[in-house]
Amino acid sequence: MDGNGRWAKKRFMPRVAGHAQGVERVRDIVEACIQRGVEYLTLFAFSSENWRRPEEEVSRLMELFVMALEREVTRMHRNGVCLRVVGDLGRFDARLRELIAQGEARTKENKRLTLTVCANYGGRWDILNAVNNWRRDNPDATTVPISEDALAPYLTMPYAPEPDLFIRTGGEQRISNFLLWQLAYSELYFTDTLWPDFDAEALDLAIASYRKRERRFGRTSEQLLER
Ligand code: IPE
Ligand code: MG
Repeated sequence: MDGNGRWAKKRFMPRVAGHAQGVERVRDIVEACIQRGVEYLTLFAFSSENWRRPEEEVSRLMELFVMALEREVTRMHRNGVCLRVVGDLGRFDARLRELIAQGEARTKENKRLTLTVCANYGGRWDILNAVNNWRRDNPDATTVPISEDALAPYLTMPYAPEPDLFIRTGGEQRISNFLLWQLAYSELYFTDTLWPDFDAEALDLAIASYRKRERRFGRTSEQLLER
C-alpha cells in the first residue's frame, strides 16, 4: 500500500493525513474483496525497513494501527473476516500486541475472507525465520537438504494459498521485500494510483488485468490447452 505520503503532500497536508486516509481505504478494499468473492487478502502495512522513517511518523503509524484495531475488528467480525497479523511482532509495544492477539482470537473462526496484515514484515526475514525454525525442530538433520514442502509450513502464512495477484500502488515497480517466497508465480500488477485513491473501481481494473494473463507455471501455452 504505497503512496500515502504523496497523496497528502499533493493536498498540502502532513504525511500522516495520508496514512489516515489509507486506513479508510483498507476498510473499503476489504469490503470490495468480500463482495467479489476474494478469499484471501494480504496487505503490506509496515515493513522491517519502515522503522528507518522519522520517529514522529513511525509513532503516528503505530497509533493508527492501534486505532484501526480498536475500531474495525467488530465490523470485520460481522463481515466474516478472519484477521491475521504476521511479522516480527516482538518490536511492537504491549498494547498493540494485545489488540492483535484479541482481534485474531475473536475472528479466528471466520471463513469469508482471511485478511493478513504484514507488520514489521520482510520477505527475507520470513524465509530465514522458517529455515531457523525448521532447524530447531530437526536438530539432527544438519546434512539433509531442506525441501520446499518441508519448509513451506514454517513460513508465516501456511494457512493461505500463494497469491494469484500482487498489486502495488503508488507507481513504484518493485517488490520491496514483500512475500518473496510466496510470490514466485504470482501475477504482478503495478499502478500509479496512490493507495488513498485506490478504490473498488481501481481494484476491478487490477482484476481485469489479471484475467487477461495466461498462467503457465513453467509450461507452454499448448500444454495448457491440452489440460
Ligand atoms: C505507504 O505510503 C505507507 C507505509 C509505508 C506505512 P508511503 O508513506 O510510502 O507514501 P509515499 O511513498 O511517501 O507517497
Ligand atoms: Mg512509499
